[in-house]
Amino acid sequence: MRVMMTGGTGLAGSHTVRRFLAAGYSVRLLVRSAQKVREIFDPLGIGIPEKDVIVGDITDADSVERAMEGCDAVYHGAALVSMRRAMAKTVLETNARGVEFVVGGAVRRGLPSIVYVSSSSIFFTPGCTPIHLDMPIAPGTTAYAQSKAQGEREVRRMQEEGAPIRVSYPTGIVGPDDPGLSDANAALYIFFKQTGITTSSGYQIVDARDLAELHLRLLELPEGSARYVAAGPFLDWPETYRVLDEITGTRLWRFPMPGPPLRVLGTIGDWLKRIHDFEFPLTRDAMEYATQWPGCSGERTTRELGIQFRDAYETYTDTVRWLYRSGHLQARHVGLLAED
Ligand SMILES: NC(=O)c1ccc[n+]([C@@H]2O[C@H](COP(=O)([O-])OP(=O)(O)OC[C@H]3O[C@@H](n4cnc5c(N)ncnc54)[C@H](OP(=O)(O)O)[C@@H]3O)[C@@H](O)[C@H]2O)c1
Repeated sequence: MRVMMTGGTGLAGSHTVRRFLAAGYSVRLLVRSAQKVREIFDPLGIGIPEKDVIVGDITDADSVERAMEGCDAVYHGAALVSMRRAMAKTVLETNARGVEFVVGGAVRRGLPSIVYVSSSSIFFTPGCTPIHLDMPIAPGTTAYAQSKAQGEREVRRMQEEGAPIRVSYPTGIVGPDDPGLSDANAALYIFFKQTGITTSSGYQIVDARDLAELHLRLLELPEGSARYVAAGPFLDWPETYRVLDEITGTRLWRFPMPGPPLRVLGTIGDWLKRIHDFEFPLTRDAMEYATQWPGCSGERTTRELGIQFRDAYETYTDTVRWLYRSGHLQARHVGLLAED
């Protein structure tokens, strides 16, 4: 069975490619750079035949169709994530077209298994109860959040018409071997390199390797559509820093700040971006997540699909060690983890 995959050069996608291959599937990657595929997979001893690397774009219907030719299933994990105001329109258009061309294209071809990566954050509104899949979809305040909400509505519509789309809803995806520095790994990098804050609520992660395992189970479901949360440990902020201190044997610099002033800072960040556009996630939206995230349980995913979400110690140890070995962090940041 050959699976057409988007997002294979990202954090979640590259781990999912590895998991699908290990399970015996063939993959066909739709990517923007064939060179990047070689850089990621060659060092791992994974050779992906040239004919199965299609250079294109999820916004280009022709390349999506070419990539899907001869495939039996589809995994759509690509999405454009940007905090810059100037990118808002592109983010909305890219992620909408991705769902339309990749998921919609797979449905039109009648493929029996389609895996789509949504986000647990699409349900979040400030002050909401713990996240569960029956909650209404929140409208989203940033272009990225709006694009994921829009994608979710489109996917639900196709599911209601009987399409076999299986959706994962990850919390912050953290893990080693990140081809770039994906959102939640970038946050971890910021805690070590720039600034740390302890505030209300906490940080909920899912290990990219556990998410890949979930994607395999979703791919292999015998029939129908499905929706499963991918949620690992939810630690409050002081506990998150305590774990990072413990695994590194250092003490990360952080200062306490209550939620309300942080959210005001986020609003100021939104305004500053109107004058000087920057990528740093100082936005109202990011501060609401950081200070008011209510948690999300992966219990049903474990019970029904047998996915065991690993604990924060293992994920943070492997990820921080990788951040060091890949040159993102220096020995003085990671303490004990710099030693073999
Ligand atoms: N990161 C999180 O914490 C988080 C949380 C919840 C949900 N999610 C969702 O999980 C999925 C994977 O996230 P991630 O953090 O692993 O992603 P990532 O590391 O940021 O990688 C994004 C992937 O999408 C590809 N991509 C972006 N725009 C594209 C385009 N126009 N055409 C083709 N490919 C394109 C990228 O290709 P290039 O390598 O060419 O850039 C890359 O392979 C996304 O759908 C995201 O919305 C992420």
